[in-house]
Amino acid sequence: MKSFPLEPIEKASIDELRSLQLERLRWSLKHAYENSPVYKAKFDAAGVHPDDCKTLADLAKFPFTTKSDLRDNYPFGMFAVPRDQVVRIHASSGTTGKPTVVGYTAKDIDTWAGVVARSIRAAGARPGDMAHISYGYGLFTGGMGAHYGAEKLGLTVVPFGGGQTEKQIQLIQDFKPNIIMVTPSYMLAIADEIERMGLDPKSTSLRIGIFGAEPWTNEMRNAIEVRMNIDAVDIYGLSEVMGPGVASECVETKDGPTIWEDHFYPEIIDPDTGEPVADGEQGELVFTSLTKEALPIIRYRTRDLTRLLPGTARTMRRMEKITGRSDDMMIIRGVNVFPTQIEELILKRPELSPHYQCVLTREGPMDNLKVAIETAPGVDPESIEARAAAKQLQYEIKIYVGSSVEIDLRGEGGIERSVGKARRVVDLRKK
Ligand code: DLL
Repeated sequence: MKSFPLEPIEKASIDELRSLQLERLRWSLKHAYENSPVYKAKFDAAGVHPDDCKTLADLAKFPFTTKSDLRDNYPFGMFAVPRDQVVRIHASSGTTGKPTVVGYTAKDIDTWAGVVARSIRAAGARPGDMAHISYGYGLFTGGMGAHYGAEKLGLTVVPFGGGQTEKQIQLIQDFKPNIIMVTPSYMLAIADEIERMGLDPKSTSLRIGIFGAEPWTNEMRNAIEVRMNIDAVDIYGLSEVMGPGVASECVETKDGPTIWEDHFYPEIIDPDTGEPVADGEQGELVFTSLTKEALPIIRYRTRDLTRLLPGTARTMRRMEKITGRSDDMMIIRGVNVFPTQIEELILKRPELSPHYQCVLTREGPMDNLKVAIETAPGVDPESIEARAAAKQLQYEIKIYVGSSVEIDLRGEGGIERSVGKARRVVDLRKK
């Protein structure tokens, strides 16, 4: 492998990193307060001023920002620079209501490309490699975020976007990229299609997959790595904070995304009380941008649940692979259940495929959870082996997750395929 040096900050001492963060944090709070009337009003209402931030721990005195703040100030009300300095807009659609709109200055775009380039490099890529990008382009941050970072690292970029699966495969065959950037669920759909075309997914030129934008388990990582003969790493991000590349996994350790803490300061809070918890404890991930100009984001509540872990391959801290979003948490007869807990158990059974959905219904006061799963290719859902696998899975979900669920086995194509983020929870309880 060609050598390519890390950026100095990736190897800096913890003291150096913390002092850079404090300096940048103070700038970011001041920038938000002085240039965004929304932040000024929020800080004033909470009785805090940027000058009150003397240590990193003082950040806890500042108010949180939530998705509703962005929605209430739709579209550009939270921006901290004049609109003519904003060179790009992205937005996340969400399921209901107005989209959440974010903006970037030219410098923000450069910062973003820098952290994505760092992420792709951490995945094992080097200048001169070729990346096939199947994250969606457009208002979603996935495609363009990955694209600018890959170009900045010096890769040859194939900006395919989502969809047209057969065509994607044809170009992968012809162009021979060694890197693919895509959601893990769409990677599975691509692998299925490769097999349907009579080809072996292991035989492609791909060697590195950089997967994110949705929760996926280590079991899913393993399944994809074996099936495609690639290294699969986890890239994390969200549009409100930047887009992909807020954190990303290092291929040498594959132990959870390293947070690019020189640009995004992480905290974990107790989601009920809002109090910060110690590193290593589980809670809701909160981010404060340290260098963003157009849309500084102060203590943004991500709704993602994880823990902060010490650095391994880099000085910066890691986050544990996301176990779930509070939005995806199902409460079944008082027990909290996340789709990833079920995914872990499904992937242990060779008779079942990794395509699944959790369907919620209500009968009287009770919520019911039905797990719809496709059987593995060639396995008839009515067969004895499939039924035995379903029974075993139902038992394991009861034992390990603590919930009684119904299993609905379906044949090939029985679960909708998404070309971006998979829909893991289908809620039929609403009218
Ligand atoms: O999904 C940005 C992105 C694009 C990340 C491509 C990685 C790759 P949003 O559409 O704003 O942005 O959705 C953000 O997706 O709060 C998480 O709940 C979830 N998410 C993103 N990456 C991961 C990941 C993009 N690696 C929301 N693991 C976040 C688990 C993830 N969940």
